[in-house]
Amino acid sequence: MAKSQEREKCATGIEGLDSILGGGFPVGNMVLVTGVPGVGKTSLSLEFAIRGAAGGERTIYITTIERPEKLIASVPEYDFFDRDLLESGMLRFMEVSELLESSSIYGRPETREDIMRFGEALSRHIEENNVRRLVIDSFSAMFYGFDDGTISRDLLLMISEMMYEKGCTAILVADVDPSSHCDMAVTATIESIISDGVIVLGNHQRRSDLLRTMQVLKMKGASHSRSKYVIDLTTVGILVTPLLRGGT
Ligand SMILES: Nc1ncnc2c1ncn2[C@@H]1O[C@H](COP(=O)(O)OP(=O)(O)O)[C@@H](O)[C@H]1O
Ligand SMILES: [Mg+2]
Repeated sequence: MAKSQEREKCATGIEGLDSILGGGFPVGNMVLVTGVPGVGKTSLSLEFAIRGAAGGERTIYITTIERPEKLIASVPEYDFFDRDLLESGMLRFMEVSELLESSSIYGRPETREDIMRFGEALSRHIEENNVRRLVIDSFSAMFYGFDDGTISRDLLLMISEMMYEKGCTAILVADVDPSSHCDMAVTATIESIISDGVIVLGNHQRRSDLLRTMQVLKMKGASHSRSKYVIDLTTVGILVTPLLRGGT
């Protein structure tokens, strides 16, 4: 298989994931992290953000449903999270509306025009603050109430282009409806087609335990395993082990 080692890597800081990816996400990739509620999407995104900021990369974490204060207050007692990163501005949590206010747009985005202005405000913010890592948690929640699917597609294309151009690496969280009864429901969505990478988090019943799993479905610019791994959410971060060890 051809190895694509030319592209510089953005180490997620999650050791097991970086080793699956041969070092991390290729710089400038826009990666979709998807799965039903409770599988660890926010935990993975937080670790990516905190470890990046701790390593000297300016990072923004945009929340679309939760207030940033509430999210910060519920971050587990991670031993790698130095809250000085918030003081120094190296790691910044913000709501969509806060980003829009920086462009003098008030309230939540409600129209196609607002969403596109969000994209422009984001671009400006990344440029002015030399942002290297971005998380939007959750991207899909921004579009509740929008009937026109082309809006999310257009914003996605805009962000994808922006990331590559600016050398910023992004995680976009996408929720999967639990009633779809299928962890892989995402594979054919337009979001997963446009994204440079797709990581699916899921659940796996093993005897009386409900395990959390992680699978890298695609990652442009990296050769990687497509196997399913078990993940443990711990205070030292996400631990990754092969699913098959010890039988299913
Ligand atoms: N470090 C941790 N140790 C133990 N439990 C955790 C840890 N981090 C998160 N959790 C728990 O895991 C659950 C799901 O995590 P979360 O990342 O919020 O999932 P999602 O964003 O996919 O809904 C939450 O109930 C949370 O309390
Ligand atoms: Mg979440």
